[in-house]
Amino acid sequence: MKVLIIGSGGREHAIALKIKASPLVTKIYCAPGNGGIAEIAECIDIKVDDIEQLLYFAITEKIGLTIVGPEIPLVQGIVDVFNLRGLRIFGPSKLAAQLEGSKVFAKEFLEKFNIPTAKFQVFTEKNSAIAYVHQIGVPLVIKADGLAAGKGVIIANTIDEAIDAIEQIMVQKIFKEAGDKIIIEEMLKGEEVSFLAFTDGRAIIPMVSSQDHKRIFDNDQGPNTGGMGAYSPAPVFTKDLENKVINEILLPTIRGLITLGINYKGVIYVGLMITQDGPKVLEFNARFGDPETQVILPRLKTDIIDVMNAVIDEKLFRIRLNWDERVTVCVVLAAGGYPGKYENGKEIEGLDEARQMEDITVFHAGTSDIEGKIVTMGGRVLNIVGMGSSIKEAVVKTYMAVNKIKFDGIQYRHDIASKAMNHLNKGV
Ligand code: AMP
Ligand code: GLY
Repeated sequence: MKVLIIGSGGREHAIALKIKASPLVTKIYCAPGNGGIAEIAECIDIKVDDIEQLLYFAITEKIGLTIVGPEIPLVQGIVDVFNLRGLRIFGPSKLAAQLEGSKVFAKEFLEKFNIPTAKFQVFTEKNSAIAYVHQIGVPLVIKADGLAAGKGVIIANTIDEAIDAIEQIMVQKIFKEAGDKIIIEEMLKGEEVSFLAFTDGRAIIPMVSSQDHKRIFDNDQGPNTGGMGAYSPAPVFTKDLENKVINEILLPTIRGLITLGINYKGVIYVGLMITQDGPKVLEFNARFGDPETQVILPRLKTDIIDVMNAVIDEKLFRIRLNWDERVTVCVVLAAGGYPGKYENGKEIEGLDEARQMEDITVFHAGTSDIEGKIVTMGGRVLNIVGMGSSIKEAVVKTYMAVNKIKFDGIQYRHDIASKAMNHLNKGV
């Protein structure tokens, strides 16, 4: 079977490597892909939101399965378009993807079905939003309703910051129509966990837990990024907590979707805050996480094509997932200046040396192959993933591989997985 992957990041490289291991797959295409994906797939120059071209390609190349990486095509309804033409595609429909595409939809859904989340109010008009800020005080969190490439959440520690955020989103329209509505919500304190599951609309099979590192600098300092590293599993996420999240969050979510007549098929990603009052939902994503996928999929021993087929055919109850018990750690190597302005085209050295190391995988995120040379082509450039029998071993191996890579302006966090080690040292 020929498979088409849509996307160009480390997540898509991890998906490509996993499906390459499946005996069911004869050829992999990736649109648009990157310099690393090009080694295992044929990269085609179609943008992730060019649904018409993607459809044309899938029909003419007789693609047996299309896998959608990023949220934009999902929220635009690529799954509905492909399904109408009888094509097999892995991901939720446009209606289902609203759980990620509209934060207002997601919050109202959580409230309606009594699923734990931060207290919130929705506003469509600036003055009432500002009045509410004065009424409840800071700190608080302001969120644009629609997709804003991970930048639509502002944590305001002063009244002025809150008013400024409201002005920027609702008046200056920095996120365009994504800011027509905003949410103002209570700030939650605790540790974040990413919990992903496969679902066919009825059955759910959770994956192993993981933790992202969103801030650019060590000790969670500086601005938010697309993710600077990850590890799996997250020791803070004990078996008891996992059961609680399945019973109080995942199952009610699926039941709620069924009540609304929404058939959700694909990956459901729940971003959780583990608060003193228990786990609460921060957000839903309608897809695999990035960089979470880079630490989750290397641990998956089951053929992922079987799982995806079972999701599409609504036969997920037949699947059991087998996981490698070892721990994975991912360090993201980013371009100098990211998440602000950065330059592309810096030559990368040490790739072969790093990937020849035992238990190391190098996923490409923002690279391009220019006349046989791999150069930087994006903010997040490479993901170095190491595996070990303990978190410490995985961290040491990963950073040894990180040290092999050189490019002009390289920056990365030096404390990935330190929270996990603290938990283990405390015996949690
Ligand atoms: P979201 O896109 O809703 O997950 O928000 C992005 C990030 O903002 C989350 O991963 C959290 O780090 C932070 N965040 C969102 N909502 C809250 C909240 N209510 N309290 C504290 N932090 C939050
Ligand atoms: N790691 C966060 C995300 O994929 O949205």
